[in-house]
Amino acid sequence: MKGIILSGGSGTRLRPLTKMTSKQLLPVYNRPMIYYPLNTLLKAGIRDILIIVAPDHAGNYLNLLGSGREFGARFTYEIQDEPRGLADAFIIGESFLDDESVTMILGDNIFVDDFSDDIKSFTSGGRIFAKEVDDPKRFGIVEFDEQGKVLSIEEKPENPKSNYAIPGLYIFDNQVSMIAKSIEPSERGEIEITEIQNAYLEKEMLDVRKVEGEWIDAGTHDSLLDAGLLVRDKVDVKMII
Ligand code: G1P
Repeated sequence: MKGIILSGGSGTRLRPLTKMTSKQLLPVYNRPMIYYPLNTLLKAGIRDILIIVAPDHAGNYLNLLGSGREFGARFTYEIQDEPRGLADAFIIGESFLDDESVTMILGDNIFVDDFSDDIKSFTSGGRIFAKEVDDPKRFGIVEFDEQGKVLSIEEKPENPKSNYAIPGLYIFDNQVSMIAKSIEPSERGEIEITEIQNAYLEKEMLDVRKVEGEWIDAGTHDSLLDAGLLVRDKVDVKMII
């Protein structure tokens, strides 16, 4: 199992903070934001990690994280020249993945749960997660029937069919790069990760598991502040780094 941290994008929603550094390097209480998703991968035993960054502040990542040796891991870096969408990570990362399965986590997603079992028990297909939220229009949304079977997956729907958001942690087998290459850009000009999820769903190879603990996408001023407070006050985000 390999790991990818997608830490691209230009962080326009967080200007002017992101004029001088990358969103995922901003402080979340006492650590740079990317430490949290990195911690999630390391805790699950993933040691071979591709970090995909935007060109603007790429050097800061090298200064902060280096080779990975300090973390007992091996880091590889790639540049995402344009924010072409989350699914682009599997195209950029194709040669790095080298036909292995992958766990991808977004550089601005902070989880309290430990995903070791979900990652270690993965064999094939796709495995994603669902977490109830108050603002479903901001996220990819999964709809379940009464038996818990997945009915639909939609990216930022105008009229969400449920309150279950799909957090930025995705486990896919080695078909993922091929699927990503077949996706057409959406109206916002991005190749959407929800299309990959739908491709696995159509093949009946998608497993969706509910997340119990807190989850924050720290990509807005409010959620960035919430993330800092969460780490400081509310829960024990078990950090090994
Ligand atoms: C992305 C995904 C969305 C997912 C979210 C999680 O949205 O497109 O499906 O629910 O991350 O953070 P974005 O952060 O690009 O708006």
